[in-house]
Amino acid sequence: MLLRKLFEPIEIGRLSVKNRLVMPAMHINLGSEEEGLTDQAIDFYETRARGGFGMIGVGIIDAYKFDFSSPGEMLLDDKPRHIAQHRKMVQRAHAYDTVVFAQVGIRGVWPLKEWRTLPRLSRLPEGLVWDLINAAIATSIRAAEAGYDAVDIQGNGAGAVSTFTSQVFNDREDHFGGTPERRLNFVLEILKGIKRRLGADFPVFLRMHGGEFMPGGYGVDRAKANAQLLAANGIDFFSVTNGSHATTVPGLTPNVPPGAYAFCAREIKSVVHVPVAASNRINHPRVAEDILRKGWADMISLGRPALADADWPRKAEAGDFEDIRICIACNECLDITRIYEKPVKCLVNPRAGRVLELPDIGRAQKCKRVVVVGAGCTGLQAALTSAERGHEVILLERKHYVGGKWQVAFPPPGREELFEFLAWLLRQNKKAGVDIRLRTEATPELVKGLRPDVLIICVGARPVVPPIPGADLPHVVFAHQAIEGSVPVGENVVVVGAGGVGVETALFLAKRWESSHETKKFFYEWPDFTDADRAALEKRGHAVTLVGRNEKVGIGLGGGTRWVLVKELDKAGVSTLKNAAAVAIEPGLVRVRSADGQLSEVKADTVVLACGYRPNEDLTLLLAGIAPETHSLGDAESVQHALNGTGRALEIALAI
Ligand SMILES: Cc1cc2nc3c(=O)[nH]c(=O)nc-3n(C[C@H](O)[C@H](O)[C@H](O)COP(=O)(O)OP(=O)(O)OC[C@H]3O[C@@H](n4cnc5c(N)ncnc54)[C@H](O)[C@@H]3O)c2cc1C
Ligand SMILES: Cc1cc2nc3c(=O)[nH]c(=O)nc-3n(C[C@H](O)[C@H](O)[C@H](O)COP(=O)(O)O)c2cc1C
Ligand code: SF4
Repeated sequence: MLLRKLFEPIEIGRLSVKNRLVMPAMHINLGSEEEGLTDQAIDFYETRARGGFGMIGVGIIDAYKFDFSSPGEMLLDDKPRHIAQHRKMVQRAHAYDTVVFAQVGIRGVWPLKEWRTLPRLSRLPEGLVWDLINAAIATSIRAAEAGYDAVDIQGNGAGAVSTFTSQVFNDREDHFGGTPERRLNFVLEILKGIKRRLGADFPVFLRMHGGEFMPGGYGVDRAKANAQLLAANGIDFFSVTNGSHATTVPGLTPNVPPGAYAFCAREIKSVVHVPVAASNRINHPRVAEDILRKGWADMISLGRPALADADWPRKAEAGDFEDIRICIACNECLDITRIYEKPVKCLVNPRAGRVLELPDIGRAQKCKRVVVVGAGCTGLQAALTSAERGHEVILLERKHYVGGKWQVAFPPPGREELFEFLAWLLRQNKKAGVDIRLRTEATPELVKGLRPDVLIICVGARPVVPPIPGADLPHVVFAHQAIEGSVPVGENVVVVGAGGVGVETALFLAKRWESSHETKKFFYEWPDFTDADRAALEKRGHAVTLVGRNEKVGIGLGGGTRWVLVKELDKAGVSTLKNAAAVAIEPGLVRVRSADGQLSEVKADTVVLACGYRPNEDLTLLLAGIAPETHSLGDAESVQHALNGTGRALEIALAI
């Protein structure tokens, strides 16, 4: 084994944990009013216990249901069915020697749309505050009754504990606010209540922020003082995450360096004598091991990495690093659960939350010849699952490389990790024995000659040319061409279209020549260079203007990602024209009309079109009818997020 520290056991209070890997609680929306925890949820957790996690967190279990609570919440009410379902799950996880804790909290003191507005906590009557505290204690008692090894108080996110602890959101002046110490009383009352009812040695954990990371919020110094006080009152384990729900510092997007927030765990660990976990963007085993070896934390929390690959620990222990499906921080999982309130889904692991994950993918009853056309991520996923089921699979790709449009999704700055998805898909397709034929254009004749039983068409979409006079001039290019470097791009660039692709293209071009922070740090530590060297090192990119018709830019990007990219536009010096339309393109300029009808000229050596995509329907029609069974998936079916394409690819391949 390569990973010396990750697989050492550890004691947490009276608990023994077999390794240092903990999956935190994540609201996966697989609960229900009738059952509390659905069978699908039990399967989800058992899969991760089997995958080798030393500890797994279940929940969040909402102790108090507000009117606007989401439908799939996991509940542990005073109902025999709820307790029975939780008990079943705990027993299943225990069979793998996994410690299971219930995260108890009070989520959403305010509806989602009010999250970032400053709530007035003083609006809550004191009686209701005590009701919330008592509800959390009562739910914890039921968790113990269901067999959970520990209770984890949700002190992060938009939960009540986080809000009461906040320096920004708590404006009370009573027992629960007014000073940093009194702001802790809410969580202290819950903690003391649990210990009083379940015994001093009943393990109670806290998931907490390393700081609020927002203007006016408390910093890591206050988080340390809070942890000290809470440890003195019996918290047995701290799991330290990023800023609060309203943080203005990214914590979850791919531009967050792996392990960036581990310093918060290090600071908490320096003042308490109980184990501490580091969290956020720790997706590679080497990063996890490094944090432990340096002594920054005692455990490693893997949230999304556990969604992306339930077998992360098993694969890491075996040294099969390349087989781990790395979480690429696309945040589709968060958007789907939090904004759309649907069961969790994961882009790189389409089985998560969608179909039962525990059983191995079954072999098909009859081996068929499956021809997949197009090796974008949809085609690669369809080919992989079909091959895993024992079918003979031929994957046709007209280019000399696989990946389709995903090839231009990872070059924008801070998106590099998206590459991992393709690398994994390609590797697994090869391992599964898919016959990948590059430089092979699928024509009706060619496909007919292959005599497929099943034809899966994943030929993607083509870019839309807007009806703007001059759109056919030679200095006008498509976004994907600008990113892939297949066309020259001049100094002054106008990007027409400010959806997700436009925003990412603008960022890519505005930062195109920029050296990474690491590179700069390296050279500034060895600064024997000239002014010319320094100027070259500091070079940024093209002068970019982004023109969009709407008031908002980045429509179509997920909520967890959009705000970060929009801020980055500013930081990268992109000039953004909102509510504006490009009305004419001429050599060297674009004419733009603003919402009030004013016309202006913007200099443009190159104009980049990012005006959407349209499915490749003609090709789909040409190939239709060749095989007894034909499916059209991904962007070829309708332009969509890759999550939907790969999800459908899985479903179809499972049904063949
Ligand atoms: C800049 C950019 C950023 C993006 N970022 C994200 C993101 O963060 N998250 C997200 O979900 N989505 C993102 N997308 C969209 C995402 O890339 C697409 O939804 C996804 O790649 C579609 O995959 P697909 O396999 O259906 O089609 P494609 O990726 O278009 O693949 C189609 C494949 O078919 C091949 N092909 C076509 N015709 C033939 C033929 N006759 N014979 C053989 N092969 C053929 C093509 O060469 C291509 O490889 C982004 C897109 C762009 C442009
Ligand atoms: C779908 C989803 C749901 C989450 N729900 C919770 C939750 O209920 N309680 C909690 O403490 N954290 C929750 N989180 C936050 C994670 O625990 C974790 O802090 C965050 O994802 C960053 O860590 P990671 O990079 O390891 O995923 C959730 C995250 C995701 C992606
Ligand atoms: S959906 Fe994206 S962010 Fe969420 S776990 Fe999967 S890869 Fe990671």
